[in-house]
Amino acid sequence: MTQRTTVKTQVAIIGAGPAGLMLSHLLATAGITSTVIELRSREEIHRTVRAGILEHGTVNLLVDSGVSDRVLREGDKHDGIELRFNGESHRIDFKDLVGEAVWLYPQTDVFADLAARREADGGDVRYGVTDVSAEDVETNPRVLFTDVDGTDWELQAEFLVGADGSRSHCRSRIPEAARRRYFHEYPFAWFGILAEAPHSSPELIYANSPHGFALISQRTETVQRMYFQCDPAENLAGWDDDRIWAELRRRVNGNGFELKEGPVIDKVVLPFRSFVQEPMRHGKLFLAGDAAHTVPPTGAKGLNLAIHDVKVLFEAFESFFRSGSTALLDGYSGGALDRVWKAQHFSYWMTSMLHQLPAADDFERSRQLGELRSVVSSRHGRAYLAEAYTGWPSA
Ligand code: PHB
Repeated sequence: MTQRTTVKTQVAIIGAGPAGLMLSHLLATAGITSTVIELRSREEIHRTVRAGILEHGTVNLLVDSGVSDRVLREGDKHDGIELRFNGESHRIDFKDLVGEAVWLYPQTDVFADLAARREADGGDVRYGVTDVSAEDVETNPRVLFTDVDGTDWELQAEFLVGADGSRSHCRSRIPEAARRRYFHEYPFAWFGILAEAPHSSPELIYANSPHGFALISQRTETVQRMYFQCDPAENLAGWDDDRIWAELRRRVNGNGFELKEGPVIDKVVLPFRSFVQEPMRHGKLFLAGDAAHTVPPTGAKGLNLAIHDVKVLFEAFESFFRSGSTALLDGYSGGALDRVWKAQHFSYWMTSMLHQLPAADDFERSRQLGELRSVVSSRHGRAYLAEAYTGWPSA
């Protein structure tokens, strides 16, 4: 038998991405203890390039809970996006349509702000652990793990939260008979680049072209993020800067619009799929974020959904530890899934409206353009997109 050092906490959290750290931070503001464990090192999480759009609700939670106001100073507020098809751009004016906006603020920075705040507050966050195993999740959760120094631990908690990402260990602790999984695969992926170049446009451009989808996003004044639809098996090595820019140009340039180009400093192929595991709770185990659901990045919903889960879950824990009532905990899965499926639909819809299916025929292509025109030519259509993109009001 391994000699284990035992430690107790109210909420054990597996995963120190934005969801796990945000939950730990919110719990601390209510005087509830938590321990967060994470397989990756802090540097490794920080290095991962992720998406960058925050809904206003996500920004409010970061600012109101005192994580950081850096998002307000360094993030860029975006009052709209452009949908581009048939060589023309159509603006979706969020501010006019729904009175809201989004912030361009990379997920890496959200992580950095949360990690710094947890550290400053003396939060118990252990990066780089190994041999993680969640036990007795139904009644008496315990988490076994080994820390970076090789010490074996047994973490005992009243509740366990699986915020351990798309390759979640926690979600498989829910027995098959008690869960359902939904998958949808797409026959394409995104080729993502970071390029040293100035902004090509003040706002993000989502382009549907006969050559496939492209997204012109941003990072800073001098570094831009762009993506184009590619085959999931695409080989990065076959793409030098000239070929990348030629591909992007033919998907977005035209009618007076020209991309501003520059050296490509990062390349990645991002396969994507839609996934949901229901329910998001089993006994004392609660799933949050990518552990329970992933969406394709076209709707910019992944991080925002994770933060919403955590907000609802925090309110449920706070109510339980304050009053002993389990009502909000019992409502967590249903409440979170309501938004998850709305976001699944929105992400699927944006994806299918903007990408070219390899097998699309002339009918499908013309139907898709009809769909795009029906959205941009109607205030109701634009408002539907604007409300979903900026984030539905919390139920
Ligand atoms: C990004 O900037 O990385 C980004 C923006 C919007 C998306 C996806 C990714 O829909």
